[in-house]
Amino acid sequence: MVITHVSADGYKNLSGADIYPHEKLNILCGDNAQGKTNFIEAVWLMSGCRSFRGTRDRDFIGFDKDKAEISLEFTDSFRPQKIGFEVKKSSLKDKIITLNGVKLPLLSKLFGSLKCVVFTPEDLALAKGSPENRRSFIDLSASQLKKSFVYALNKYDGLLSQRNALIKEINFGRADRSMLDVWDVQLAKTGAYISVIRDTYCNNLNSYTESLYNKITDGNENLKLYYQSTVYRRLEGRTDHDGELADIYLQKLRNGIEDDIRAGYTLCGVHRDDVCTAINGLSVREFGSQGQQRSVALAMKIAQAKIIRDQTGEAPVMLLDDVLSELDMGRQRFILENIDGMQVFITCCDTRVIGEPEGRIFSVKGGNITKIKG
Ligand SMILES: Nc1ncnc2c1ncn2[C@@H]1O[C@H](COP(=O)(O)OP(=O)(O)OP(=O)(O)O)[C@@H](O)[C@H]1O
Ligand SMILES: [Mg+2]
Repeated sequence: MVITHVSADGYKNLSGADIYPHEKLNILCGDNAQGKTNFIEAVWLMSGCRSFRGTRDRDFIGFDKDKAEISLEFTDSFRPQKIGFEVKKSSLKDKIITLNGVKLPLLSKLFGSLKCVVFTPEDLALAKGSPENRRSFIDLSASQLKKSFVYALNKYDGLLSQRNALIKEINFGRADRSMLDVWDVQLAKTGAYISVIRDTYCNNLNSYTESLYNKITDGNENLKLYYQSTVYRRLEGRTDHDGELADIYLQKLRNGIEDDIRAGYTLCGVHRDDVCTAINGLSVREFGSQGQQRSVALAMKIAQAKIIRDQTGEAPVMLLDDVLSELDMGRQRFILENIDGMQVFITCCDTRVIGEPEGRIFSVKGGNITKIKG
């Protein structure tokens, strides 16, 4: 997948940015607060994902602007495609989103067309950070391969909120605990399905991260990554989510009802699961050094990109925001070597970080982007 043209105007501080990226490497260089991350974010939004910085819709538009416009052209292995986006301050709800001229109701409907992998300094904490971050990573990665997974995740969230609300009602004496069963049956089905998809993805991810990590450490350390379920002791690659796995899930929910009522919410389920990593048998989250934790995160992110490439036949666009400057030379080289063959956008404050590779260099200044080399 190659982005051939991006223009952005009024998106945060970006003003009249209009660039034709190189098919391989693009370096966006500039001082702090010039618009580098804003540009990466604008591209990322066109992949149909929510902002990795959690920006809300009303903050898309420049403080002194009336509207934000982004236009992006890209080519996959079949055809050139075009995405258009426009939002006005006066009517935030009425965004104009188009894919190849066809209007779409929501930004999320763009999901699945332009495939990107974004890597920010926060991602370096993936191995040691909260389980929630790891679940989001797995959920997004698995959704990029299977769009319908997003539906299951949303359904689960809805069911869980309703179950938790009912638990509160039971605690107030306003509802009977027998009413929980209606939610539990549905929650078990959806939860079993999510467990299977996540477990399958983690097993797949593990086969990539194992060899990547082996390369980072010159074969000295062995990394294992696995899905840790709060419902199943071991999934061991099982996929019968409609059968026994749903029954086990339901039983677990039923057995936990007293504890859930005491706690005031649902204690067990895919919303509490985790993705664990271990180096030579020791938990990375608990015992890993900072360098090891970063290398594991690196391996997970590169693996995410390689899985998209291998399973869809389309190499994703890599968006590396400020991440290289956080890494030593060895790890910088490791990333660049391992994303060879993918189009890359790298932001940095100092081009010396990158050396002199084949590609295009852009300067980002006060929201303007100009090509300076390549
Ligand atoms: N809605 C907005 N309207 C105008 N400017 C905004 C808006 N939101 C953020 N900004 C500004 O955009 C500027 C550039 O932000 P950005 O995060 O892209 O910088 P950067 O070039 O990535 O810097 P750094 O190297 O520090 O990461 C910031 O000064 C920020 O205050
Ligand atoms: Mg930045």
